[in-house]
Amino acid sequence: MGQGPSGHRSGLPGDRKPDGGDKKDKKFEPAAPPARVGRKQRKQKGPEAAARLPTVTPLTKCKLRLLKLERIKDYLLMEEEFVANQERLKPQEEKAEEDRSKVDDLRGSPMSVGNLEELIDENHAIVSSSVGPEYYVGILSFVDKDQLEPGCAILMHNKVLSVVGLLQDEVDPMVSVMKVEKAPLESYADIGGLDAQIQEIKEAVELPLTHPELYEDIGIKPPKGVILYGEPGTGKTLLAKAVANSTSATFLRVVGSELIQKYLGDGPKLVRELFRVADDLSPSIVFIDEIDAVGTKRYDAHSGGEREIQRTMLELLNQLDGFDSRGDVKVILATNRIESLDPALLRPGRIDRKIEFPLPDIKTRRRIFQIHTSRMTLADDVNLEEFVMTKDEFSGADIKAICTEAGLLALRERRMKVTHGDFKKAKEKVMFKKKEGVPEGLYM
Ligand SMILES: Nc1ncnc2c1ncn2[C@@H]1O[C@H](COP(=O)(O)OP(=O)(O)OP(=O)(O)O)[C@@H](O)[C@H]1O
Ligand SMILES: [Mg+2]
Repeated sequence: MGQGPSGHRSGLPGDRKPDGGDKKDKKFEPAAPPARVGRKQRKQKGPEAAARLPTVTPLTKCKLRLLKLERIKDYLLMEEEFVANQERLKPQEEKAEEDRSKVDDLRGSPMSVGNLEELIDENHAIVSSSVGPEYYVGILSFVDKDQLEPGCAILMHNKVLSVVGLLQDEVDPMVSVMKVEKAPLESYADIGGLDAQIQEIKEAVELPLTHPELYEDIGIKPPKGVILYGEPGTGKTLLAKAVANSTSATFLRVVGSELIQKYLGDGPKLVRELFRVADDLSPSIVFIDEIDAVGTKRYDAHSGGEREIQRTMLELLNQLDGFDSRGDVKVILATNRIESLDPALLRPGRIDRKIEFPLPDIKTRRRIFQIHTSRMTLADDVNLEEFVMTKDEFSGADIKAICTEAGLLALRERRMKVTHGDFKKAKEKVMFKKKEGVPEGLYM
């Protein structure tokens, strides 16, 4: 390798000076130009001259020209190799040093996310982190101070908490998680019965989004949202999933408990953020499951936590009222304790459409059994009618449980077909657990 560069170096001037070796180069300076070089005087000035390729003398295509061109090519190849080697070999240690320090940097500073509370001066601010207290910290010079404003999310150094960066995306990451990107697999076809409910939710939620002009023609305002209520396991969440599956609108789903936040003001903020995102992505549907977590009646709240929950609900009411009209945002709430909800939430003008989910009647039961057994291999003696006509109260979820249980029983005995006996046992088991309130799988 050591030889290479020196060889190249002697070659380099040759490139600049066509048709000439080193000797000619030297001759050129003191004495009159020798015949060959003199013919095409080159201004050897500046870097361009070095970059330029020499002209090759015999202009016609001939062997000599070919050989000369090949020689130039060889020089160029050598030069290329030399340059590449230089890059590769020389600064290796420097590079290693650089990398090491970079790794040290990264290793040393996991960053934390905080909130900018107040800007004090050019280089100082008060920040709060999720851990709780507020700090007076410095702002590093490379942070773009024009973009800093109270309330924005910032990156902080983990130890000294100085501001080292700004989080551009001002949408709360919690909210972006709520967006349903992959449509759920459940569709309307997977719902047994509930035809009236499906019709109603379509009218109240989907139709206003797809055909708002129909409501305009009649001269009424479409409902802002619906609330689904009824016994546990009657298909409320299932129907909402089917809506999400079939709609082309953006579907945001939240569980009420997610809106309960630990810190003061975070719950209402999340609600605000949720509706703002819904508005941005409109037309959209916001589905809040188990709304009783935040929507219970307002009693005198004593603890701070309760008050925070109430504030969250008040913000929800405010958003439903939509001071700025939210034509393209529909709300679906679901609960199984409608009587405990705050009446303000349900008064006409907010959520005035209430859709009840009753326990399935005989026809519906038959349909639900069909749906859940459609992919099972049943023996010939299975008579589902017996369970359909029974006097016991089943919910849709119970029926699903019976089918699953029967399948498991058959599996336990390594049978390929599920028999009537399996269903009988399964039903007893499910009914027993339901009556006794034994949590599933506790005594086995
Ligand atoms: N009408 C129905 N048709 C088919 N399957 C049903 C029906 N109702 C309930 N199921 C089955 O029961 C399961 C539970 O239903 P779902 O989660 O919708 O109950 P829910 O009404 O939301 O109950 P909760 O009030 O406890 O949240 C569903 O996954 C579904 O398989
Ligand atoms: Mg549910």
